[in-house]
Amino acid sequence: MDIKGIVAVVTGGASGLGDATARALAAGGAKVALVDYNEEGARKTAEEIGGIAVQCDVSKAESGEAAFARILDDLGAPRVLINCAGVAPAQKVLGRNGVMPLDDYRRAIEVNLIGTFNMLRLFADACQGLEPQASGERGVIINTASVAAFEGQIGQTAYASSKAGVAGLTLPAAREFAQIGIRVCTIAPGIFETPMLKGLPEAAQESLGKMVPFPSRLGRPQEYAALALHIIQNEMLNGETIRLDGAIRMAPR
Ligand SMILES: NC(=O)c1ccc[n+]([C@@H]2O[C@H](COP(=O)([O-])OP(=O)(O)OC[C@H]3O[C@@H](n4cnc5c(N)ncnc54)[C@H](O)[C@@H]3O)[C@@H](O)[C@H]2O)c1
Repeated sequence: MDIKGIVAVVTGGASGLGDATARALAAGGAKVALVDYNEEGARKTAEEIGGIAVQCDVSKAESGEAAFARILDDLGAPRVLINCAGVAPAQKVLGRNGVMPLDDYRRAIEVNLIGTFNMLRLFADACQGLEPQASGERGVIINTASVAAFEGQIGQTAYASSKAGVAGLTLPAAREFAQIGIRVCTIAPGIFETPMLKGLPEAAQESLGKMVPFPSRLGRPQEYAALALHIIQNEMLNGETIRLDGAIRMAPR
């Protein structure tokens, strides 16, 4: 799909991987809606790239519905959805302070998995009414899992299972949407240099980078954005979860 002139929705657009992808989409000529819980951050990026900021909790049905109503009004129906909103809790099932509260597990699933599905369903509903492009394609959805979907570490039962769910919904959604010309792919990043990780001491960042076989460093958000743009442009990519990780395989801890 050609990016120029299309409407693209980027969740988690206020920060990290979403922010970088929103910038790359805008540079390619897309009109971008940055959907984020953090309205101020989304507005800042939106102003810089000529997009719009839409405050939304992706895990809530009504909040998502209001966000899409606003996007349809302000920009029109979108052809691209990038699901980057997410949280990364780390907590053992049996921690020092007792057993993990069930609500902590539920929150990770609600934001990362249900939030992804919520945006996917609303996007598909809005996109299906658009005219297909010459090849029959209407739209593209890109979700974000994690290498934790495949080798979650100790303390990642909630995070890893939320991301495994995202990888799991990719193929059935691609199969269902094939008849309306919407492709669905998921990117599973390794360790990326985003505000989440930049908060760690320099030495910790360096040692995380050294765990990556090659290149031995943290991934750059621009590298995630470059893959997202390639997926949009390469029509044969569909129904697949793609690791973007410099060959890292996470150890138990
Ligand atoms: N950075 C990494 O190393 C890494 C690795 C693997 C996977 N990921 C995944 O990539 C995605 C982006 O991560 P990042 O590193 O850019 O993180 P980040 O914290 O920089 O950005 C996440 C964004 O999501 C938003 N958000 C959180 N909960 C939300 C909600 N309920 N509704 C709307 N917005 C919400 C936050 O406000 C933030 O702007 C996440 O899904 C994360 O799990 C990141």
